[in-house]
Formats: sequence, structure tokens, C-alpha cells
Amino acid sequence: MTRRRPKHKEWPIVVALDESWSESKIWTKRLKGKVWGFKVGSILFSEMGPKVVQKLKAEGFRIFLDLKYHDIPNTVAGAVRQAFDLGADLVTLHSSGGRAMCEAAAKLQNSKQSVLAVTVLTSFDEKDLKDLGIDRSLPKQVESLASLAIKSGVHGLVCSPLEVANLRKKFPKAILVTPGIRLEANGTQDQKRTSGLQDTFLNGASLAVVGRALTGEKNWKAAWEKINSSLEEIF
Ligand code: C5P
Repeated sequence: MTRRRPKHKEWPIVVALDESWSESKIWTKRLKGKVWGFKVGSILFSEMGPKVVQKLKAEGFRIFLDLKYHDIPNTVAGAVRQAFDLGADLVTLHSSGGRAMCEAAAKLQNSKQSVLAVTVLTSFDEKDLKDLGIDRSLPKQVESLASLAIKSGVHGLVCSPLEVANLRKKFPKAILVTPGIRLEANGTQDQKRTSGLQDTFLNGASLAVVGRALTGEKNWKAAWEKINSSLEEIF
């Protein structure tokens, strides 16, 4: 996939609104027209409920609804249907929910709304996998879950920046979304498989999720500047 300079300097990043609604509103105002869209996860959804998606859509924002569904196929399909009806552009499920679950969700996609399958959380390392009784290496586990999900028909995958190059080779047309982005000066917090923005795009990511690397910084303007200059170099 070739990297194209985004229109109107709208960077292919999704800002994670993992804060209260009052904080989130500040971020959407600051970044309107500058990023692909915003990620609503379980923190904001638990505070605000589904109306948060409608509110943000009404303001013209693209929404990545990251509720990581994992249930029986009928339940997940019902939830994905509701999420798409609300207007979510991207919704997530855990690929470890299995083929039937992924297929049931994939059938609901259309040309504007896609399901993304989470492979292995970016907060996991090999030891965390072993603790779950999984003896495969982490890259192998990511690859096997990714294959299952793509064969089931989902349009895209969520993976760490460290696996994106391999997945891009294997799935040239998939939407690949990478959380776990850190700028040079950031700590990694609870994330274990992280990388910088340039690497993730040079390795084939379609969209990168930026959370605390921006929203957790005291000097957010300096962090935003860093993001801009690093993206200017490659787009
Ligand atoms: O603040 P930080 O950049 O670590 O936020 C990453 C965001 O991406 C969080 O909202 C987290 O829930 C989400 N995410 C992730 N790893 C995945 C899928 C989603 O960190 N595999």
C-alpha cells in the first residue's frame, strides 16, 4: 500500500479519548480537521453510553468504536449492528472470539463501515501469553489470529507497531491499525509493544492510535508539534 499525503493535512491518526467527556470535548475541538478521527473506548462509553458516538458523529467526526467485543456470534453480530447503526466507522472485536464470531460480524460491514479484529493486546509480552497457557511465540500468535480474522472476512486488524510490517506483507489490502505509539520522550506506561509514528507508517500501518503520548502530556502543544514534524517527514 502506498502512503499518500492526507488531504488538508488530516493525519492518518486516531486520537484515543480515554478520558472524561469534558476532557474529550477539549481534544475534539483542538484537533478538528487535523486527524482522521477519534477513538471511543470503554472508558468514555461507560461514562456516556451510545449517545457519545451520536454526538461526535453529529459534529462530523469519524469514530473508531473500540469496545473489543468477544462473545457468542449472535451477540457480537447484534452489537456490531447497533454500533454501525449509531454511525461508528470502525468497530473492534477480539479475533480470539473465533471464526464463527468474526464471520457473523464481518457480514455486517459495508463500503464505509469496517470491523477490525484485535490480534494480541499491545500491553502483552511473551510472558503474558505464557501465563494464559499459550506456548507459541508472540509474532506467531499474532499471525495466526490475524489469518483467522482475515479469512473470516473482516476488513482490518489491530496489531502492535512491531508486527505491522509482517502483517502488511501478508495482507496487502487490510486496514491495519496500530496502538502502542510513543514519542521519544514518553514512557510506555502499561504498554509493552510500542514504537514511534514514523516506523509504524513506514512499516505499512493504515492508521495509528495516539493516546497518552499526546493526551497525557502536560505540554500537549509540544507533543502535537513533535507529531506534526515527524509525520511531515514521511508524508
Ligand atoms: O494511551 P495509549 O496510547 O497507550 O492508548 C492506546 C489505546 O489503544 C487505548 O485506548 C487502548 O485501549 C487501545 N488499544 C491498545 N491495544 C490494542 C487495542 C486497543 O492499546 N491491541
